[in-house]
Amino acid sequence: MAYYRQVGSVPPRRHTAFRDDSGALYYEELMGEEGFSSDSSLLYHRGVPSAIVDSQTWELPELATEPNHPLKPRHLKLHSLFDEADVKAVDPVQGRRLVLGNADVRISYVVAGEVSPYYRNAIGDECVYVEQGRGRVETVFGALDYRTGDYVLIPRATTHRWLPDGSEVPSRLYAIEANSHIAPPKRYLSRFGQFLEHAPYCERDLHGPGEPLLVDGDDVEVLVKHRGNGPAASNGIAGTRMTYATHPFDVVGWDGCLYPYTFNVEDFMPITGKVHQPPPVHQVFEGSNFVVCNFCPRKVDYHPDSIPVPYYHSNVDSDEVMFYVGGDYEARKGSGINIGSISLHPGGYAHGPQPAAVEASIGVDYFDELAVMVDTFRPLELGEAGAAAEEPGYAWTWAGRGPR
Ligand SMILES: [Fe+2]
Repeated sequence: MAYYRQVGSVPPRRHTAFRDDSGALYYEELMGEEGFSSDSSLLYHRGVPSAIVDSQTWELPELATEPNHPLKPRHLKLHSLFDEADVKAVDPVQGRRLVLGNADVRISYVVAGEVSPYYRNAIGDECVYVEQGRGRVETVFGALDYRTGDYVLIPRATTHRWLPDGSEVPSRLYAIEANSHIAPPKRYLSRFGQFLEHAPYCERDLHGPGEPLLVDGDDVEVLVKHRGNGPAASNGIAGTRMTYATHPFDVVGWDGCLYPYTFNVEDFMPITGKVHQPPPVHQVFEGSNFVVCNFCPRKVDYHPDSIPVPYYHSNVDSDEVMFYVGGDYEARKGSGINIGSISLHPGGYAHGPQPAAVEASIGVDYFDELAVMVDTFRPLELGEAGAAAEEPGYAWTWAGRGPR
């Protein structure tokens, strides 16, 4: 994020004495990426941000993965993973179940109605897509309200907690956890970081915190997910429960270009063409070795003979994960895919529409569909929730039968 923001009170000159009304100094913290060589923000705390009084092991949920072997496309029904009757006691952090993962990114799913503990992910940025629900995310930078269709972007090591508003529906959250940073694609940005005219969204669509939270408290526990030599079953990811002497949300002000924000999928302006446009026009974010795209409701191809559904494609360098969240996905008709489904189409295998969908799409001028796609450049493995949610038989739906 190269988009400057200032919230609350900051001193006129950085790295100089900044005091409260009683004359006490505030404690300045620089939160910065890539070793002082990329985006950063300066935060001003009432308490010392490094003052911990305890550090204990946090037992992480199951993070082991199994290879997609023998290789095949898969259909995972995420809505089968949680019983809505039980989710009032599930929180959006500890309740996440690992669906797919590799050394660059992990995709988890949770249906939650409970407030999460304070938490930060010290491994990479998180991009949480809100399939359904509303609530708040409180962070050291201030609060973000979230609603259905939001991507909630939380920079690495940002202390925060989730507060689902479960009064109507629980929050269905699709968490994309990177081992890197997640940002708008570089090709959407000028060399100084402003969104260019060809980008399908711009700065007006990004919503950051508006004011400091200024919470008092002591002995506050924060769950920290971090790199480590944890159990082999956790793929080298470890958890620690730190206790802070003072509340981490004691910031009176901050400024800079690094902060959490939301972006709603309805604010993505689809790019369409006379014939089929390739997936990069649907891209919304990128991380190291993966991209995030969204397929939004849109007018489609206007050549009289165009075939609006995709051609069959071997994206030889990536695994493709589609999460179907709204409408009626044209290319998957006849496959059993529905809202809440994931399709995993791995590298090394050509995929495309179900055969009847090709003819049926000719002449159609509008697709009412909404899907979030993650393409990874390393193969994805199945987490415990991926294995538990699998609908067997999907691999044979193009042929209309399995092995004799
Ligand atoms: Fe594809």
